[in-house]
Amino acid sequence: MVEMTRRDTLGLVAGAAASAHVTPLTAQSGLASLGAVGAQVGVLFGSAFDREIFQDAPYRTLIARECRIGTTENSLKFGWLRPRGPTADFAIADEIVAYAERNRIALRGTALVWNDWNPTWINRHSPSELGALLDRHIDETVTRYRGRLHSWDVVNEPFFPPHRRAGGFRKGPWFDALGKDHIFRAFRRAAKADPTVKLTLNEGFCEQEDELGKSVRPLLLRLIDEMQHAGVPLHAVGFQAHLKPQLPFDDAAFQAYLNEVARRGVEIYITELDVDDSGLPDDVAERDRRVAQRHHDFLKAVLAVPQVKAVIAWHLSDKYSWYRTVDWFRQEVRRHGGDPMRSARTHIYDDQLVRKPAWTAVESALAGRRA
Ligand code: XIL
Repeated sequence: MVEMTRRDTLGLVAGAAASAHVTPLTAQSGLASLGAVGAQVGVLFGSAFDREIFQDAPYRTLIARECRIGTTENSLKFGWLRPRGPTADFAIADEIVAYAERNRIALRGTALVWNDWNPTWINRHSPSELGALLDRHIDETVTRYRGRLHSWDVVNEPFFPPHRRAGGFRKGPWFDALGKDHIFRAFRRAAKADPTVKLTLNEGFCEQEDELGKSVRPLLLRLIDEMQHAGVPLHAVGFQAHLKPQLPFDDAAFQAYLNEVARRGVEIYITELDVDDSGLPDDVAERDRRVAQRHHDFLKAVLAVPQVKAVIAWHLSDKYSWYRTVDWFRQEVRRHGGDPMRSARTHIYDDQLVRKPAWTAVESALAGRRA
């Protein structure tokens, strides 16, 4: 159950007032932000955001209010910087980095290397050309923001055993051309370009107690060990935490796993927190309650690990839920017997930027870290 504290109750009251057509941020402005609550317990709390903040002023205000840390959702990814060819357009990324600085939001860049979501033009290149392209991409991008970012996801999602590649690696242009060496190469190159930024290895699925989660965990640990043994600079490990309550999970087992990672002397970040609600009931109140509970129970377990230094939601509002943009999501809702036309309610604020029970759940889990 989500534990209710006095601050929680106030949050719910403010939420109710806001839905009665009081401007949400005004109604809630007397309350602590999650960023402030996190700061009291040594956790940077924040969210992913991207170019929508330049069109959506209320959301921009909300991001600035709640976040001590942020992640560029897309604008620093290879395919967004270089959609049509090797020459990059940094215009939007520049604006986002400047916005974060003006608002004193520590910014994470994601991701220098990801074997998913790459533009098709890179498929025309030979392995040696791809190696040169990887080096150039890292040199240009990391150097451009040198000294201004909190951390870089140097490599995102290295593993996906269902792809049946040797070592359980994810298939894609970088791995298929360069093998697992591209991971070591990318970290070394990034460290040269910015010796101050924290270099992060980011992975998904590990909190799942299913075949996929249980297969990725040991692979990731072994990769960390190999990198450290080879002297590759690695400062942090990120866990996405796109939580899926419809799959088996065991928060105590995941906590034990995080302790294993922590013993390697790296920081740990929860990098993309949200709750996939495709398997939850249509009823909005019940769905919101289950999304809140999953946020709470997961965070309570992971925040007990002292090396967890940051918690980043993958957006603050349902309005910008990435589940609303992917084609598999409605099929998943249908498969679980839900109404495929319903809107995903995967985040801690609703479409009107009113706090949901999940906000209270996150606040309670953060505040509970002291105990
Ligand atoms: C997603 C973005 O949210 C989408 O807007 C984009 O179309 C695709 O990428 N795991 C990750 C993130 O590592 O980078 C993904 O972000 C979500 C899943």
